[in-house]
Amino acid sequence: MPTVSVDDRSVEVPSGTRLTIAIQQAGIEIGHRCGGKARCTTCRVEMHEGESSGMTRAEFVRLREAGLLDSHRLSCQLVVEDDMRVSSVMTKQNQGWPDTGPALDEHLVPESDRFERAFLEAEQPG
Ligand code: FES
Repeated sequence: MPTVSVDDRSVEVPSGTRLTIAIQQAGIEIGHRCGGKARCTTCRVEMHEGESSGMTRAEFVRLREAGLLDSHRLSCQLVVEDDMRVSSVMTKQNQGWPDTGPALDEHLVPESDRFERAFLEAEQPG
């Protein structure tokens, strides 16, 4: 099983696990204020190792709108396929939220298809 290292923790998860869920399982209370639907960016992470080149259309659009396309990924739009090392950004503790957000669907929403960034940039010129 792949290992996800996040901040000072790590966890092994089955391949295909949503990254936000893996981060939660590591004990990090990362935000997911929109319920994992690529709308809020509170689940954003900095990727250090194991970044997937594939991206959902929803992740591409939201990161571009937020000016985060070159620096962050949305953990709710990524699945763990190989070992990953990431840093969380917005957590219940550092944001003072009463909770992390609505429960996450086990599967990627709103769509699971992933594309290379170059394809998405050509498809949706900014
Ligand atoms: S949980 Fe809102 S964008 Fe990922």
